[in-house]
Amino acid sequence: MLNTTSLKAAYGAVPVLLGVDLALGEGEILALLGRNGAGKTTLMRTLIGLLKATGGSVTFAGADITNFPPHDIARRGIAYVPQGRGIFPKLTVAENLELGTRSRPDGRSDVPAEIFDYFPRLRERLSQSAGTMSGGEQQMLAIGRALAGDPKILLLDEPSEGIQPSIVHQIGEFLKRIVADTGISVLLVEQNIDLALATADRCIVMEKGRIVREGSVEEMSDETVMREFLAV
Ligand SMILES: Nc1ncnc2c1ncn2[C@@H]1O[C@H](COP(=O)(O)OP(=O)(O)O)[C@@H](O)[C@H]1O
Ligand SMILES: [Mg+2]
Repeated sequence: MLNTTSLKAAYGAVPVLLGVDLALGEGEILALLGRNGAGKTTLMRTLIGLLKATGGSVTFAGADITNFPPHDIARRGIAYVPQGRGIFPKLTVAENLELGTRSRPDGRSDVPAEIFDYFPRLRERLSQSAGTMSGGEQQMLAIGRALAGDPKILLLDEPSEGIQPSIVHQIGEFLKRIVADTGISVLLVEQNIDLALATADRCIVMEKGRIVREGSVEEMSDETVMREFLAV
């Protein structure tokens, strides 16, 4: 579904991605783990065209989309929920969700009703300013907004960051349900190992701009592996 080959990216003269090979399958939840500074966010920004690739390629559903403009990549069906959520705090929940529909390929602007099945809380809060909600509710809104664009792939950058544990668990359950219902693929960047292992089908570990390990959730649950690659 989404593949990269020897993908490279840099900030100015400083290389950050040193050649990333990644394959995200249809209907798969792939967890991307790694220490702070490994390049996880940089990889996501490069995938959606916010940062120029300096080498290698990104293909989506067989088409080369390397360095396509972000709006084009969004319209093709790759949605991105950035680290820190990226919602508009002054706008209402309804307005945030409507903005999400702008990347729909069919041009419709109604918010799909299923979003409120996943996140009933959002329906109760439609007229509330997004910035006045709890961190967990804002994360639900950020995911809901991404889903409003009817994506085929969801890129989530540390959705558990700054959210209370009970909500973190709920977000994992939502993700599994969304994938089971819709067949979309999810690339989940996480520092919360428990959430990653509870949610993902497969894990990859990034270190210094490269993927250094790949394995099933069972393999990655092994504590020595975790200690070796993720000690923070
Ligand atoms: N806007 C930026 N300008 C320059 N360097 C950056 C920028 N963003 C990140 N970096 C550097 O790129 C490397 C990877 O960062 P990042 O992709 O944010 O890592 P992660 O998401 O895995 O914590 C780090 O060394 C970081 O300092
Ligand atoms: Mg990051």
